[in-house]
Amino acid sequence: MKTYKIALLPGDGIGRDVTDAAWAVLEKASSAAGFTLSGTSYPWSCDYYLQHGSMMPADGIDILKSFDAILLGAVGWPAKVPDSVSLHGLLLPIRKAFVQYANIRPHRLLPGVQGPLKADGFDILCIRENTEGEYSGAGGRVHQGTDDEVAVETSIFTRKGVERILRFGFEQARARRGKLASVTKSNAQKYTMVFWDEITQALAVEFPDVEVTSYHIDAMAARMVMVPQSLDVVVASNLFGDILTDLGAAIQGGLGFAASANINPDRTAPSMFEPVHGSAPDIAHLGIANPIAAIWSGAMMLDHLGEEAAARDVMAAIEATTARGIGAIPGKDKTDTITTAVLSALGQ
Ligand code: IPM
Ligand code: MN
Repeated sequence: MKTYKIALLPGDGIGRDVTDAAWAVLEKASSAAGFTLSGTSYPWSCDYYLQHGSMMPADGIDILKSFDAILLGAVGWPAKVPDSVSLHGLLLPIRKAFVQYANIRPHRLLPGVQGPLKADGFDILCIRENTEGEYSGAGGRVHQGTDDEVAVETSIFTRKGVERILRFGFEQARARRGKLASVTKSNAQKYTMVFWDEITQALAVEFPDVEVTSYHIDAMAARMVMVPQSLDVVVASNLFGDILTDLGAAIQGGLGFAASANINPDRTAPSMFEPVHGSAPDIAHLGIANPIAAIWSGAMMLDHLGEEAAARDVMAAIEATTARGIGAIPGKDKTDTITTAVLSALGQ
């Protein structure tokens, strides 16, 4: 029987609650579809940091390298460890080391879920650049604590990095409804975003079947609220994509429904799957976190592994569950109630 090795990183807070839920669903889906998921869990988290002085061991990246995929819950517990330390010690290094340059985030309303907008017929796939741009981590501070203090943080856009994420966006658009929105701000940022626009235009020649439009980030934010149904694939830089995908989560009913995949499209290293939401320390281990974003992220993992039928089964089970009103209203149902409903919908 085909076996996939999965590294489980539940992380902090509700990350553990939702990873357990997703794993139960994925295990059931895999055995029904005739393959095996072999999971190994690592306790890397803020608690691990308090014990060991680092978010993961020095050879953490080497350990993860041998897996077929990584399923992550959430990272961060600011009362224990500053976010700037915990995220730069676990989540962000994995995305960079494994060249997971495409962060894919689907935004649509699940059946039975009431979003805040009047519009309901939208189906957006956001593709966020995930390794460079505004989050490159290049910068520094001098004269700290004095009146002369200076802080700089430099955005880094490389031809290689911009070209590959835009190409990925074009390819996704080609496989969907043929429309690509490229998010820019070249009216104000005259180096990086003009560069981004030029590469968008150059690639458009290779994809005559894709209708590409550039939108400034501010106008795109408004468009996602006013006419989200006009959008298909949206491709954006790291910061712009980060912001737009929280907006995307909001219009799809909340962060409890927002799934994501950190993909290495070249498959030179494992990809990582995680809900968009954070660790929510205030509700950690109360059994009330919505596991749907994590389960959906798990379905994206199955799809990436080539188990498309099992991925579709998991999505159908999620949809059957929310269609019955279970897990559809933020805060209403317990994690277990939702997980049990998804498990029993599987295969029906
Ligand atoms: C996300 C998160 C992270 C990011 C943070 C926690 C560093 O907001 O996955 O969207 O900005 O990438
Ligand atoms: Mn974010």
